[in-house]
Amino acid sequence: MPLQVKFLMSETPPAVPTRDDVFGLLGAVIDPELGTDIVTLGMVPDVVVSPADSTGGVDVTVWVKLTIGGCPLRSQIKRDVETRVALHPAVRTVHIEWGEMTSDERSEVMLKARWSARENAPDTAVPQSCRVLAIASGKGGVGKSSVTVNLAAALAAQGLTVGVLDADIWGFSVPRLLGISDRLEAEAVEGSDRPKIIPNTLKVGRGELKVVSTGFLVAEDTALMWRGLMLTKAVEQFLRDVAWGDMDYLLIDMPPGTGDVQMGLARMLPRTDLIIVTTPALAAQKVASRAADMAKRSFLRVAGVIENMSSFTCDHGQEYALFGSGGGQALADEINVPLLGQVPLEPAVGAGGDAGVPVSLSPYGGAAATVFRAIAQRIIDDIAPPVNMAGCSARMLAAVAAAFDNA
Ligand SMILES: Nc1ncnc2c1ncn2[C@@H]1O[C@H](COP(=O)(O)OP(=O)(O)OP(=O)(O)O)[C@@H](O)[C@H]1O
Ligand SMILES: [Mg+2]
Repeated sequence: MPLQVKFLMSETPPAVPTRDDVFGLLGAVIDPELGTDIVTLGMVPDVVVSPADSTGGVDVTVWVKLTIGGCPLRSQIKRDVETRVALHPAVRTVHIEWGEMTSDERSEVMLKARWSARENAPDTAVPQSCRVLAIASGKGGVGKSSVTVNLAAALAAQGLTVGVLDADIWGFSVPRLLGISDRLEAEAVEGSDRPKIIPNTLKVGRGELKVVSTGFLVAEDTALMWRGLMLTKAVEQFLRDVAWGDMDYLLIDMPPGTGDVQMGLARMLPRTDLIIVTTPALAAQKVASRAADMAKRSFLRVAGVIENMSSFTCDHGQEYALFGSGGGQALADEINVPLLGQVPLEPAVGAGGDAGVPVSLSPYGGAAATVFRAIAQRIIDDIAPPVNMAGCSARMLAAVAAAFDNA
């Protein structure tokens, strides 16, 4: 409503806002990308409130420094700044002076945003000592779910406790791939005022899988009913309301086209590391690097790349690069992270999925099984070692073992 009308409606002119009042109003303007308000982020270097005119109205000038000049969110920030400041009844006009940050200022803002995301991360039932790895890709059908269950099984086979969260809410495939169909039960849990969902468990050697999927809540053919459900809400609920208990790893099978879920995850579990799955085609690299871009924007670390459906070796030992070659390495180089492994195209991977037994557990071990196990080992040794083992006691044990070796 025009301000003149606002004034006509009140008999006495409204109090003139102070500079602090305006900063207070700007505290509600959230940088959509960084998830924190622009004042806390240090994006508002100054505010000037003009002297009041005869009707008590003031003009406000707000200096806003964007992280980059051509920031695509500029128009949204502009609109939010204007509408927020105009909430004060004495404000007649809002003028924005745009500026651009220096690279030093920009790194400081990023630091603040990351910090604030961590500080404000809501409580989850995922223990602090649990490593969180989200398996993502730029497009569907590249093998995220197959990689998730095979790595989870290979990690558990090492005696670890591994959670598997199927974040593909309406395209879930984890139940089938692990051969589990039990419905999830909820139970009252000590120390919590509401019942918690008890994950389905599966013993794997000395280790264990704890598995949660919407597939355990709905029959596969009614999954479409979930379409209206907010994806992030469902994932949020799984993180908060599942009695995960102790876990060394939580592997999250991401849905294709990960935008919302990835952002939600970054907010709920900012310590999540991403593993990006791509196919060997060089053309796939471009699509896959989008997932990496998104990770960067939500401050998630990309821990590595896995190339899946790499060359197929026929019974005669002849290798065929059916889907091209070099895509995994090219992506890893582009985003400067290690290529964790190349999983060959192998019918046993699909057959294992159909049978509900991940091929990485197969005692006969094809080439794909060997690669999955090697990637799991690399995760444990190098990429994201279990927190409990990376602690002092493990290091002490290693030191003792080394002393014996040298004796
Ligand atoms: N290395 C492999 N060798 C042979 N078949 C594979 C391999 N990896 C995956 N597949 C098959 O490819 C298909 C897609 O795999 P998967 O479901 O794991 O992909 P996804 O990325 O999770 O797909 P979506 O995006 O639909 O969730 C499945 O039929 C699976 O069995
Ligand atoms: Mg999948």
